Amino acid sequence: MSRKTKNTSEKNTSARRRESAAERRERIFRERLAACYDEMKWLYCELYHNDEQAFSYFTEMLRRMYAERSAALHKWDEQREGSGWYKSGRTLGMCLYVDSFAGTLEGVREHLSYIEECGVNYLHLMPLLKSPEGKSDGGYAVSDFTEVDPRLGSMKDLARLTRDCHKKDIAVCLDFVMNHTSDEHEWAKKARAGDPDAQARYFFFDGWDVPNQFEPYIPDVFPTTAPGNFTWCSEAGKVVMTMFYPYQWDLNYANPTVFNDMTEAMLNLCNHGVDIVRLDAVPYIWKRRGTDCRNQPEVHSLVRLLRLAAGVVCPGTLLLGEVVMEPGKVMPYFGTVEKPECDMLYNVTTMATTWHTVATKDVRLLEHQLSIVYGLPREFTFLNYLRSHDDIGWGLDYDFLAQFGAEQTAHKKFLNDFLTGRWPGSPSRGELYNDDQLRGDARLCGTTASLCGIEAAEYEGDKEKLDWTVRRDIMLHAFLLTQSGVPVLYSGDEIGQTNDYTYHDDPLRRDDSRYIHRGRFRWEDAALRSDPSTREGRIFLTLRKLISIRAALPAFDSAADCWIINTGSDHVLGIGRYHRGQKLLALFNFGDDDQDIRLDTDGPCLDLMQAPAAILEAVLSGASEITATGAAAGVAEAAATDDAAGVAEAVATGAAAGVSLAAIIDAATDAAAGVAEAAATGAAAGTATSVGISTADPYGTMTDPDIMESDCVVRPGWIHIRCHDFRWLLHKYDSEA
Ligand code: GLC
Repeated sequence: MSRKTKNTSEKNTSARRRESAAERRERIFRERLAACYDEMKWLYCELYHNDEQAFSYFTEMLRRMYAERSAALHKWDEQREGSGWYKSGRTLGMCLYVDSFAGTLEGVREHLSYIEECGVNYLHLMPLLKSPEGKSDGGYAVSDFTEVDPRLGSMKDLARLTRDCHKKDIAVCLDFVMNHTSDEHEWAKKARAGDPDAQARYFFFDGWDVPNQFEPYIPDVFPTTAPGNFTWCSEAGKVVMTMFYPYQWDLNYANPTVFNDMTEAMLNLCNHGVDIVRLDAVPYIWKRRGTDCRNQPEVHSLVRLLRLAAGVVCPGTLLLGEVVMEPGKVMPYFGTVEKPECDMLYNVTTMATTWHTVATKDVRLLEHQLSIVYGLPREFTFLNYLRSHDDIGWGLDYDFLAQFGAEQTAHKKFLNDFLTGRWPGSPSRGELYNDDQLRGDARLCGTTASLCGIEAAEYEGDKEKLDWTVRRDIMLHAFLLTQSGVPVLYSGDEIGQTNDYTYHDDPLRRDDSRYIHRGRFRWEDAALRSDPSTREGRIFLTLRKLISIRAALPAFDSAADCWIINTGSDHVLGIGRYHRGQKLLALFNFGDDDQDIRLDTDGPCLDLMQAPAAILEAVLSGASEITATGAAAGVAEAAATDDAAGVAEAVATGAAAGVSLAAIIDAATDAAAGVAEAAATGAAAGTATSVGISTADPYGTMTDPDIMESDCVVRPGWIHIRCHDFRWLLHKYDSEA
């Protein structure tokens, strides 16, 4: 074959290949659309009164967005679709403001190694689209959904950052602020100038008659900082609906053009590499006179339509619903197992109940709340958190609390008094948010560390107080990591960052106390993270240990069976988790006193936090092999040896892969006995080295200086648990499972 003919034939083949790739794309699109077409059309036509033209625009827009999606992202979708990748214990989120963390998107990209070091593989970047300074509500008033705020970078920077994140297996979450636009959005500008089509995208009224009919039924979102739900727009000479701040104009989703364009805006973000879309303030997106304008049935049709649209264009994408409501109103946003709406929802009630438990030191409400969560289908995944960029509202189960004589208003006041440090003896340092004196309904702000009392302890220079407040902070994080679902840390909490009071001097922020916990990330403090003698290091290193344990053990998978353990104490929360033959017992002492708890198990447990590093390592590396058939005979033999150092060494050398965990726990039992003996004869350090125990174990050295005397194997019977401390006990498991 001549060179020329060869080249031509190569070209033809590659053209065919290109064509077939394009055909494949087209086929996949059609298949995905066909699979949901009937339901999509039905929902759409019901909402929009059979507006076929609008529907066909919608499906064409989906086709366009699908075509614009890059090959790399299509591939990413194929890997992720339906895989439930976020449900294992490996997923750990972190939420941060780009400017507070690293100035710009490029800055975040340069600091990805820190994100990785934290063990984070899900990065929530707080709102970063164009938003007018001084009227931005922390970026939640978007003036252009297609542009990044120029102070933070560009859409190109966003795509570059998400690409780098994906290379490191980090998923990216972004807010989709869908309920409203900034009053400086192009649509709002046109509406202000009198354009009727643009006005029809919002809720405009000629006078106050209709708004006055709405108003009595709609509770204020920001009762003190932005009372009322309507604003007079003098340029238009009309009244406009503004349920949040007056500069956040509510969009009218009864108008199909709004839904079509906003869905496109969402998909455009996905096409820039966003994997998790946070549907901001989603319960508010449909308004109906005579109601509270929240959770209307149409909201669920819209969310289901968004789910279907994402399923066609970018099926690897998750929808995270921001539904900060009482539990009964949150659950419906999961949809049903067959017809899901949101893939993930904030576990807001557990979050608020956790702080209630910190203040009351009584775990009964938390037990009750968790039992409800444990009764839900496993398909429903919660995003768990200790705090977010927003305030903590006291949406607790007051009917349950009533049996203990707690009355709502008085109880909220107690919680706020305790967590702001006004309550005698409380070390917490929070600030009130939207203190609605009329309803007695203030909410609360503060970083986890400051709410735990670390700030006060450091200010007072009280070492003992610092010790137990740090322990409490760690215990809360351990509790967070014990829950099923996706835990999300707020940037800075991993080093125990305290409140930032500088917002008090900023005229644009001083009225919004949420800025107290959105402060600049203190890199100078983060520099101490490897030093276990500092607060930063003690928290950071312990969290890393907890995170790596969680990532390795199947018991932390979202599919685990979970139950509440009756600890016999109202101060100690007990949680059991069981999955793939592995059982974890977790105990959390919220009380101010040490407690002895009766542990009724049918065998010894390994105390994961006290276990020498070598043993822990072996357990974690062995854990990934738990389902493998057949145990490694060599290690089983090693486990049976009488020589403690030999056991630990054998276990630690990696021969453990494939061995049953039960054998390792047995090995640990023997090794620990040897260690304790050696410690008693004063040879602790030597023994530690010889059995490969890290003497720099931050948790052990900081909270229990004499780790050598501690026993990492816990046997059935009474076990001691210090105040504000926790235990993670891995039960000898059934090797047949
Ligand atoms: C959500 C955000 C909050 C914002 C509000 C209005 O609740 O979390 O920060 O103020 O929406 O967009």
